[in-house]
Amino acid sequence: MSRDVIIACDFAGREETMEFLDLFGDRKLFVKIGMELYYSCGPEIVREIKSRGHRIFLDLKLHDIPNTVEKAMRVLSRMDVDMCNVHAGGGRTMMEAAVRGLTREDGTRPVIIAVTQLTSTDEKTMREELLIDRPLDEVVTEYGRMAADAGIDGVVCSPLEAGKIHSACGENFLTVTPGVRLAGDAAGDQKRVTTPAVAAELGSDYIVVGRSITGAANPPEAYDRCCREFMG
Ligand code: C5P
Repeated sequence: MSRDVIIACDFAGREETMEFLDLFGDRKLFVKIGMELYYSCGPEIVREIKSRGHRIFLDLKLHDIPNTVEKAMRVLSRMDVDMCNVHAGGGRTMMEAAVRGLTREDGTRPVIIAVTQLTSTDEKTMREELLIDRPLDEVVTEYGRMAADAGIDGVVCSPLEAGKIHSACGENFLTVTPGVRLAGDAAGDQKRVTTPAVAAELGSDYIVVGRSITGAANPPEAYDRCCREFMG
């Protein structure tokens, strides 16, 4: 199993992002590019970060009709990202189309994971707004199973759900988990947070860490602490 720390580069533009990455010198990182940075800088930001030797998780959470998602994934595949994602709520056919679109002629493709339920969605929202009348952890697990059946490699979930997902979908099905804070850091808007050490104990494969690294006085030191705690 490949355990790693992914840094969420939630910056508004290119300059801040590159200034941040420069702090790490020649080190090769796993960087998450989200909607804000991608929509402000476009594919060029992916190419530039990639050309520095970093791996990229492009977090665009696609959710559309299967044909559109398949074609969009074909474009992302050509951009040579390492990891990308869709919403499991788009359904099995959409996820199958995503995997198809992502797969290159030589059979290789980036890793693709699915968002089950956003961490900002709670059971009340699910019941009253999405009209899903099932317990949240059951929905997360069932969406995980559906994603695995569709050929998806893993899910984004809370570290607290990693064990259940592995039991339902197999040990090799990836759990990519945000909501991680170094001990002593503020939780901010995250509701259920764990430390990198606890995420490792709970079976997360990748932790996604934003503010505990980007907001630290010494980001490379905070990153090292995350790596030590998570990967030993
Ligand atoms: O700063 P922080 O460590 O909370 O950043 C977490 C990152 O993971 C953010 O980029 C956020 O958008 C992302 N994320 C999340 N919860 C999800 C999916 C993505 O926090 N369910």
